[in-house]
Amino acid sequence: MKIFYKISEIKEYLLLQKALGVKIGFIPTMGTLHSGHLSLIRRAKADNLVSVCSIFINPLQFNNKEDLENYPKSLDSDIIKLESVNCDILFSPSEKEMYPEAENTIYDLCGLDKYMEGAFRPGHFNGVVVVVKKMFDIIEPLKAYFGEKDFQQLAIITNFVKKYHIPVEIIPCPTIREDDGLAMSSRNVRLLPAERKAAPLIYKTLYKAREMAPTSSIEKLKKWVINELKKDSLLKLEYFEIVDCESLEPVNNLAGHKKCIACIASYAGNVRLIDNINFL
Ligand code: PAJ
Repeated sequence: MKIFYKISEIKEYLLLQKALGVKIGFIPTMGTLHSGHLSLIRRAKADNLVSVCSIFINPLQFNNKEDLENYPKSLDSDIIKLESVNCDILFSPSEKEMYPEAENTIYDLCGLDKYMEGAFRPGHFNGVVVVVKKMFDIIEPLKAYFGEKDFQQLAIITNFVKKYHIPVEIIPCPTIREDDGLAMSSRNVRLLPAERKAAPLIYKTLYKAREMAPTSSIEKLKKWVINELKKDSLLKLEYFEIVDCESLEPVNNLAGHKKCIACIASYAGNVRLIDNINFL
Protein backbone atom coordinates (compact mmCIF):
# COMPACT_ATOMS: atom_id res chain seq x y z
CA MET A 1 0.00 0.00 0.00
CA LYS A 2 1.24 3.47 -0.87
CA ILE A 3 0.93 6.06 1.89
CA PHE A 4 0.72 9.79 1.24
CA TYR A 5 0.72 12.59 3.79
CA LYS A 6 0.95 15.53 1.38
CA ILE A 7 -1.77 16.76 -0.97
CA SER A 8 0.72 17.65 -3.73
CA GLU A 9 2.22 14.13 -3.66
CA ILE A 10 -1.03 12.16 -3.83
CA LYS A 11 -2.35 14.52 -6.53
CA GLU A 12 0.76 13.97 -8.64
CA TYR A 13 0.54 10.19 -8.25
CA LEU A 14 -3.19 10.05 -9.04
CA LEU A 15 -2.80 12.34 -12.05
CA LEU A 16 -0.69 9.68 -13.69
CA GLN A 17 -3.21 6.95 -12.77
CA LYS A 18 -6.07 8.99 -14.23
CA ALA A 19 -4.11 9.60 -17.42
CA LEU A 20 -3.93 5.82 -17.75
CA GLY A 21 -7.73 5.66 -17.42
CA VAL A 22 -7.70 4.08 -13.95
CA LYS A 23 -11.00 4.29 -12.05
CA ILE A 24 -10.63 5.45 -8.45
CA GLY A 25 -12.87 4.42 -5.56
CA PHE A 26 -12.60 6.55 -2.41
CA ILE A 27 -13.39 5.69 1.24
CA PRO A 28 -13.13 8.65 3.63
CA THR A 29 -12.64 7.71 7.31
CA MET A 30 -11.42 9.07 10.61
CA GLY A 31 -9.42 5.93 11.40
CA THR A 32 -9.53 3.41 14.27
CA LEU A 33 -10.71 1.10 11.57
CA HIS A 34 -13.06 -1.84 12.14
CA SER A 35 -14.83 -4.38 9.95
CA GLY A 36 -17.45 -1.78 8.97
CA HIS A 37 -14.76 0.41 7.39
CA LEU A 38 -13.08 -2.62 5.82
CA SER A 39 -16.38 -3.66 4.18
CA LEU A 40 -16.41 -0.28 2.39
CA ILE A 41 -12.86 -0.85 1.20
CA ARG A 42 -13.69 -4.35 -0.06
CA ARG A 43 -16.66 -2.93 -1.96
CA ALA A 44 -14.50 -0.14 -3.45
CA LYS A 45 -11.89 -2.70 -4.50
CA ALA A 46 -14.55 -4.81 -6.23
CA ASP A 47 -15.82 -1.78 -8.19
CA ASN A 48 -12.61 0.09 -9.08
CA LEU A 49 -9.03 -0.55 -10.12
CA VAL A 50 -7.62 1.69 -7.40
CA SER A 51 -8.95 2.16 -3.86
CA VAL A 52 -7.99 5.24 -1.85
CA CYS A 53 -8.78 5.36 1.86
CA SER A 54 -8.31 8.58 3.82
CA ILE A 55 -7.72 8.79 7.55
CA PHE A 56 -8.21 12.27 8.90
CA ILE A 57 -9.80 13.24 12.20
CA ASN A 58 -11.60 16.33 10.99
CA PRO A 59 -11.68 18.94 13.77
CA LEU A 60 -14.32 20.94 11.90
CA GLN A 61 -17.03 18.34 12.47
CA PHE A 62 -16.58 18.11 16.26
CA ASN A 63 -18.86 20.54 18.01
CA ASN A 64 -17.44 19.44 21.36
CA LYS A 65 -13.73 19.91 22.18
CA GLU A 66 -13.70 16.98 24.61
CA ASP A 67 -15.18 14.65 22.00
CA LEU A 68 -12.38 15.62 19.58
CA GLU A 69 -9.68 15.11 22.23
CA ASN A 70 -11.12 11.71 23.21
CA TYR A 71 -11.56 10.47 19.64
CA PRO A 72 -9.44 7.29 19.36
CA LYS A 73 -6.30 7.24 17.19
CA SER A 74 -4.44 4.17 15.95
CA LEU A 75 -2.63 4.83 12.67
CA ASP A 76 -0.13 1.95 12.98
CA SER A 77 -2.77 -0.76 13.46
CA ASP A 78 -4.99 0.93 10.85
CA ILE A 79 -2.19 0.54 8.29
CA ILE A 80 -2.00 -3.20 9.07
CA LYS A 81 -5.78 -3.54 8.67
CA LEU A 82 -5.75 -1.66 5.36
CA GLU A 83 -2.96 -3.90 4.09
CA SER A 84 -4.98 -6.98 5.11
CA VAL A 85 -7.72 -6.00 2.63
CA ASN A 86 -5.21 -4.90 -0.03
CA CYS A 87 -6.17 -1.25 0.01
CA ASP A 88 -4.05 0.44 -2.64
CA ILE A 89 -3.54 3.92 -1.20
CA LEU A 90 -3.80 5.59 2.20
CA PHE A 91 -4.02 9.36 2.40
CA SER A 92 -3.43 10.64 5.93
CA PRO A 93 -2.85 14.41 5.92
CA SER A 94 -2.14 16.63 8.93
CA GLU A 95 -4.57 19.30 10.05
CA LYS A 96 -2.25 22.00 8.68
CA GLU A 97 -2.18 20.26 5.31
CA MET A 98 -5.99 20.15 5.08
CA TYR A 99 -6.67 23.54 6.64
CA PRO A 100 -3.71 25.86 6.00
CA GLU A 101 -6.03 28.79 6.76
CA ALA A 102 -9.08 29.21 8.98
CA GLU A 103 -11.98 27.50 7.26
CA ASN A 104 -15.37 29.19 7.20
CA THR A 105 -17.14 27.85 4.12
CA ILE A 106 -20.84 27.31 4.69
CA TYR A 107 -22.78 25.02 2.35
CA ASP A 108 -26.52 24.90 1.83
CA LEU A 109 -27.51 21.46 3.07
CA CYS A 110 -31.14 22.04 2.07
CA GLY A 111 -32.39 21.73 5.64
CA LEU A 112 -31.40 18.06 5.91
CA ASP A 113 -29.20 19.06 8.84
CA LYS A 114 -32.13 20.45 10.84
CA TYR A 115 -33.04 17.14 12.42
CA MET A 116 -31.50 14.48 14.69
CA GLU A 117 -27.67 14.67 14.59
CA GLY A 118 -27.88 18.16 13.08
CA ALA A 119 -30.10 19.39 15.91
CA PHE A 120 -27.89 17.92 18.64
CA ARG A 121 -24.54 18.67 17.01
CA PRO A 122 -24.73 22.21 15.53
CA GLY A 123 -22.28 22.72 12.65
CA HIS A 124 -21.36 19.05 12.53
CA PHE A 125 -22.65 18.33 9.04
CA ASN A 126 -21.21 21.50 7.51
CA GLY A 127 -17.84 20.35 8.88
CA VAL A 128 -18.36 16.89 7.34
CA VAL A 129 -19.28 18.33 3.95
CA VAL A 130 -16.35 20.79 3.95
CA VAL A 131 -13.82 17.97 4.48
CA VAL A 132 -15.52 15.55 2.07
CA LYS A 133 -15.60 18.24 -0.66
CA LYS A 134 -11.89 19.02 -0.08
CA MET A 135 -11.07 15.30 -0.26
CA PHE A 136 -13.11 14.90 -3.48
CA ASP A 137 -11.19 17.84 -5.02
CA ILE A 138 -7.85 16.24 -4.10
CA ILE A 139 -8.63 12.65 -5.08
CA GLU A 140 -11.23 13.13 -7.85
CA PRO A 141 -12.75 9.67 -7.42
CA LEU A 142 -15.40 8.23 -9.71
CA LYS A 143 -17.19 6.66 -6.76
CA ALA A 144 -17.14 7.25 -3.00
CA TYR A 145 -18.33 4.80 -0.36
CA PHE A 146 -20.33 5.72 2.73
CA GLY A 147 -21.93 3.58 5.44
CA GLU A 148 -25.67 3.47 6.13
CA LYS A 149 -24.69 3.41 9.81
CA ASP A 150 -24.42 7.21 9.52
CA PHE A 151 -27.66 7.52 7.62
CA GLN A 152 -28.11 11.28 7.93
CA GLN A 153 -24.50 11.85 6.79
CA LEU A 154 -25.10 9.62 3.76
CA ALA A 155 -28.36 11.46 2.91
CA ILE A 156 -26.70 14.88 3.25
CA ILE A 157 -23.70 13.94 1.08
CA THR A 158 -25.91 12.31 -1.56
CA ASN A 159 -27.99 15.49 -1.72
CA PHE A 160 -24.86 17.70 -1.66
CA VAL A 161 -23.21 16.11 -4.74
CA LYS A 162 -26.50 16.36 -6.63
CA LYS A 163 -27.14 20.00 -5.67
CA TYR A 164 -23.58 21.18 -6.39
CA HIS A 165 -23.12 19.00 -9.52
CA ILE A 166 -20.12 17.19 -8.09
CA PRO A 167 -19.20 14.32 -10.43
CA VAL A 168 -18.79 11.61 -7.77
CA GLU A 169 -21.19 8.69 -7.43
CA ILE A 170 -22.11 8.05 -3.79
CA ILE A 171 -22.38 4.34 -2.99
CA PRO A 172 -24.30 3.41 0.19
CA CYS A 173 -22.96 0.39 2.09
CA PRO A 174 -24.84 -1.69 4.72
CA THR A 175 -24.14 -1.43 8.45
CA ILE A 176 -21.80 -4.09 9.82
CA ARG A 177 -22.64 -5.27 13.34
CA GLU A 178 -21.05 -7.23 16.16
CA ASP A 179 -22.58 -10.67 16.85
CA ASP A 180 -24.82 -9.17 19.53
CA GLY A 181 -26.20 -6.55 17.11
CA LEU A 182 -24.18 -3.53 18.25
CA ALA A 183 -23.29 -1.43 15.20
CA MET A 184 -19.53 -1.31 14.76
CA SER A 185 -18.11 2.12 15.52
CA SER A 186 -14.66 3.55 16.22
CA ARG A 187 -16.14 4.87 19.44
CA ASN A 188 -16.87 1.34 20.72
CA VAL A 189 -13.23 0.98 21.85
CA ARG A 190 -13.97 3.64 24.48
CA LEU A 191 -16.81 1.62 26.08
CA LEU A 192 -16.04 0.25 29.55
CA PRO A 193 -16.92 -3.46 29.95
CA ALA A 194 -20.30 -2.76 31.61
CA GLU A 195 -21.18 -0.15 28.97
CA ARG A 196 -20.21 -2.55 26.19
CA LYS A 197 -22.59 -5.09 27.76
CA ALA A 198 -25.40 -2.53 27.89
CA ALA A 199 -24.93 -1.09 24.38
CA PRO A 200 -26.60 -3.92 22.34
CA LEU A 201 -29.95 -2.90 23.87
CA ILE A 202 -29.89 0.07 21.45
CA TYR A 203 -30.21 -2.10 18.33
CA LYS A 204 -32.44 -4.67 20.07
CA THR A 205 -34.87 -1.86 20.86
CA LEU A 206 -34.80 -0.59 17.27
CA TYR A 207 -35.43 -4.11 16.00
CA LYS A 208 -38.39 -4.69 18.32
CA ALA A 209 -39.80 -1.24 17.51
CA ARG A 210 -39.84 -2.20 13.83
CA GLU A 211 -41.76 -5.38 14.68
CA MET A 212 -44.30 -3.35 16.66
CA ALA A 213 -44.66 -0.60 14.05
CA PRO A 214 -47.51 -2.14 11.98
CA THR A 215 -49.78 -2.32 15.03
CA SER A 216 -48.71 0.74 16.98
CA SER A 217 -48.98 4.51 16.60
CA ILE A 218 -45.70 6.41 16.27
CA GLU A 219 -46.46 8.23 19.51
CA LYS A 220 -46.83 4.96 21.42
CA LEU A 221 -43.75 3.53 19.78
CA LYS A 222 -41.66 6.51 20.85
CA LYS A 223 -42.84 6.20 24.44
CA TRP A 224 -42.07 2.48 24.38
CA VAL A 225 -38.51 3.09 23.11
CA ILE A 226 -37.88 5.77 25.76
CA ASN A 227 -38.99 3.29 28.46
CA GLU A 228 -36.99 0.39 27.07
CA LEU A 229 -33.74 2.34 27.19
CA LYS A 230 -34.49 3.47 30.73
CA LYS A 231 -34.22 -0.18 31.76
CA ASP A 232 -30.44 0.11 31.71
CA SER A 233 -29.09 2.95 33.80
CA LEU A 234 -25.85 3.08 31.76
CA LEU A 235 -27.79 4.14 28.66
CA LYS A 236 -29.09 7.67 28.19
CA LEU A 237 -31.31 8.24 25.17
CA GLU A 238 -30.69 11.46 23.28
CA TYR A 239 -33.30 11.03 20.53
CA PHE A 240 -35.39 8.42 18.77
CA GLU A 241 -36.99 9.62 15.53
CA ILE A 242 -38.81 7.98 12.67
CA VAL A 243 -38.12 10.06 9.58
CA ASP A 244 -38.81 10.06 5.87
CA CYS A 245 -35.69 8.65 4.13
CA GLU A 246 -35.54 11.50 1.61
CA SER A 247 -36.65 14.64 3.41
CA LEU A 248 -35.47 13.38 6.86
CA GLU A 249 -38.57 15.04 8.30
CA PRO A 250 -40.03 13.25 11.31
CA VAL A 251 -43.20 11.36 10.37
CA ASN A 252 -46.31 11.10 12.52
CA ASN A 253 -47.84 8.29 10.55
CA LEU A 254 -46.12 5.62 8.44
CA ALA A 255 -48.93 5.64 5.86
CA GLY A 256 -48.23 7.89 2.90
CA HIS A 257 -44.42 7.58 3.12
CA LYS A 258 -42.47 5.58 0.57
CA LYS A 259 -39.53 4.81 2.85
CA CYS A 260 -39.00 5.58 6.51
CA ILE A 261 -36.09 4.97 8.84
CA ALA A 262 -35.89 4.95 12.63
CA CYS A 263 -32.78 6.68 13.95
CA ILE A 264 -31.46 6.69 17.48
CA ALA A 265 -28.69 8.33 19.48
CA SER A 266 -27.88 7.19 22.97
CA TYR A 267 -25.04 7.55 25.37
CA ALA A 268 -23.55 4.42 26.89
CA GLY A 269 -21.67 5.94 29.80
CA ASN A 270 -19.78 8.86 28.23
CA VAL A 271 -19.74 7.40 24.73
CA ARG A 272 -22.28 8.66 22.22
CA LEU A 273 -23.57 5.94 19.90
CA ILE A 274 -25.91 6.19 16.90
CA ASP A 275 -27.80 3.54 14.96
CA ASN A 276 -30.79 3.14 12.66
CA ILE A 277 -33.13 0.60 11.09
CA ASN A 278 -35.25 0.76 7.94
CA PHE A 279 -38.96 0.77 8.71
CA LEU A 280 -40.60 0.48 5.29
P1 PAJ B 1 -15.94 7.37 10.25
O1 PAJ B 1 -16.84 7.44 11.43
O2 PAJ B 1 -14.54 6.91 10.41
O3 PAJ B 1 -16.66 6.49 9.17
C1 PAJ B 1 -16.11 6.34 7.89
C2 PAJ B 1 -17.13 5.62 7.02
O4 PAJ B 1 -17.37 4.31 7.56
C3 PAJ B 1 -18.51 6.33 7.01
O5 PAJ B 1 -19.03 6.31 5.71
C4 PAJ B 1 -19.32 5.50 7.97
O6 PAJ B 1 -20.72 5.56 7.73
C5 PAJ B 1 -18.76 4.11 7.69
N1 PAJ B 1 -19.06 3.20 8.80
C6 PAJ B 1 -18.83 3.40 10.12
N2 PAJ B 1 -19.27 2.35 10.86
C7 PAJ B 1 -19.79 1.47 9.98
C8 PAJ B 1 -20.42 0.18 10.13
N3 PAJ B 1 -20.60 -0.38 11.32
N4 PAJ B 1 -20.83 -0.46 9.01
C9 PAJ B 1 -20.66 0.13 7.78
N5 PAJ B 1 -20.08 1.33 7.59
C10 PAJ B 1 -19.66 1.99 8.67
O7 PAJ B 1 -18.03 9.12 8.97
C11 PAJ B 1 -16.91 9.59 9.14
O8 PAJ B 1 -15.84 8.85 9.59
C12 PAJ B 1 -16.58 11.05 8.86
O9 PAJ B 1 -17.72 11.83 9.11
C13 PAJ B 1 -16.07 11.28 7.42
C14 PAJ B 1 -17.11 10.92 6.36
C15 PAJ B 1 -14.76 10.50 7.18
C16 PAJ B 1 -15.74 12.78 7.23
O10 PAJ B 1 -14.79 13.22 8.15
